[in-house]
Amino acid sequence: MTPLLTLRGVHKRFGGVHALDGAELTISEPGVVHVLIGQNGSGKSTMLGVLSGQLRVDAGELRLDGQPVRFTSPVAALRHGIAMVSQETAVAPDLTVAENVLLGRGLVRRWSGLSPAATRKRAQEVLARLELDYDPRQLVRDLRPDQRQMVEIARALSTDARILILDEPTSSLTDDEVEGLFGAIRQLKTQGVATVFVSHRLPELFAIGDEVTVLRDGRTVAQAPLAHFDPHSLVEAMVGEIAAREPRQPRGSRPSSRSGRDDAPPALRVRGLEVVGAVRGVDVEVGRGEIVGISGLVGAGRSELLEAIFGVRPLAAGTVELDGAAFAPSAPRDSIQRGLGFLPPDRKTEGLVLGMSVRGNVTMVQTLERARLRSPSSGAETRSAQAACDAMGVKTASLDAPVGSLSGGNQQKVALAKWLARGPRVLLLDEPTRGVDVAAKAEIHEQLRAVAADGVGLLVSSSENEELIELCDRILVMFRGRVVAALETENCSEPELVRLAGGHT
Ligand SMILES: Nc1ncnc2c1ncn2[C@@H]1O[C@H](COP(=O)(O)OP(=O)(O)OP(=O)(O)O)[C@@H](O)[C@H]1O
Ligand SMILES: [Mg+2]
Repeated sequence: MTPLLTLRGVHKRFGGVHALDGAELTISEPGVVHVLIGQNGSGKSTMLGVLSGQLRVDAGELRLDGQPVRFTSPVAALRHGIAMVSQETAVAPDLTVAENVLLGRGLVRRWSGLSPAATRKRAQEVLARLELDYDPRQLVRDLRPDQRQMVEIARALSTDARILILDEPTSSLTDDEVEGLFGAIRQLKTQGVATVFVSHRLPELFAIGDEVTVLRDGRTVAQAPLAHFDPHSLVEAMVGEIAAREPRQPRGSRPSSRSGRDDAPPALRVRGLEVVGAVRGVDVEVGRGEIVGISGLVGAGRSELLEAIFGVRPLAAGTVELDGAAFAPSAPRDSIQRGLGFLPPDRKTEGLVLGMSVRGNVTMVQTLERARLRSPSSGAETRSAQAACDAMGVKTASLDAPVGSLSGGNQQKVALAKWLARGPRVLLLDEPTRGVDVAAKAEIHEQLRAVAADGVGLLVSSSENEELIELCDRILVMFRGRVVAALETENCSEPELVRLAGGHT
């Protein structure tokens, strides 16, 4: 049988970087869910860019239903029924749901001045294919991020796509939201729409995938039905070989990572913190050398809590102490000056300057301080940038490459390296390993433990309970702005965290 789509011998270079080096991909038939996996920088997003007409290949062949085709633009790919939902959501926040959904059609055929009622009706038809009951008149800015993503998918469908491409659609979704997305994908499957998607979370790949392509260093190293793999063999295919790792010490037997005298003040002490509409009377203490996790659903107030401590969101009430000294969060500069570091969840908009070099981003915090202290730049800074990038395993052509040219996961590592190079006393991390591949994630956890062992206090918010259990000494669970539970990690389980995060005690 002729496969639905094949890519063969695809080469794509970016300057000196051989992002795709003879890669291939076969989507077997309509309605199939095709999973694309590989380590950070292995070429997944590049492959999807080629498939969706966003990137021109240097060499290679694309066949649809056995016929050679060549896409010169995303619009050309759309005409052939291939639609991509990008890693960054691209909805127009000031338009309604209906208008956003039909923007896709507008791309292909000219926006035809439909009446509002007709626009709503058509949009509703598309939304119904995903079993969504959003109000088409609602402004997209009022939707949650997962709902915006659904609107984007609906937009792709409005163009009668046969192949829907999703680059890490689940990386910022909670478990429930992932279920919603997968429900929509299953719905599309029954309508014969194939899905190609990238994710670093193995359990969900196995939950939904039918077939898999594994990329390593720009080459396809495996293509098979997903049933031919288990998580171990899949990681092995990705990495090449599984490096012998020291078995992880079980939580209980690990020496307590709290350092310093017991009467020493904690690195961070927060009392009665309030943020209007988000955080209600939260107390947190993080000892030196301690890693404290925050679990909770999206909207529980985790991000707002970290933002308020760092001084990028106003505190309505409460006090903060650093090493026992009062601290009034007001501006990031002051916070940094006092030894606080903050990794926001969305590196693209807040964590990094994409046009600036890797070196510039990593040393940015020091540069800010130097401007204040009026001291000259030093070679030591470059060395510390290099060391921090090495420690995080950042894969980049050079320290001078713009951060925007790195793969998504490598950008995340740079965002972390930026704080490690500075050596803060307290680090506030929001989703520290979002978009990072499975192998690199374990390494980042090791790094964070090493930082803690040096006496830094870490407060880590994550939507992945598995990550919190693996990384943290204690876990706080937030529900509707309050801390509803505080647990020693050794006595807590994922199901328990899920239960508590849902407001059940
Ligand atoms: N626009 C670009 N300019 C320069 N280099 C690029 C560009 N886009 C990608 N690259 C390089 O191509 C390689 C593959 O990147 P790609 O984004 O495809 O990786 P990926 O598999 O999607 O990784 P991740 O899991 O981190 O998202 C990387 O080395 C990356 O730095
Ligand atoms: Mg990518």
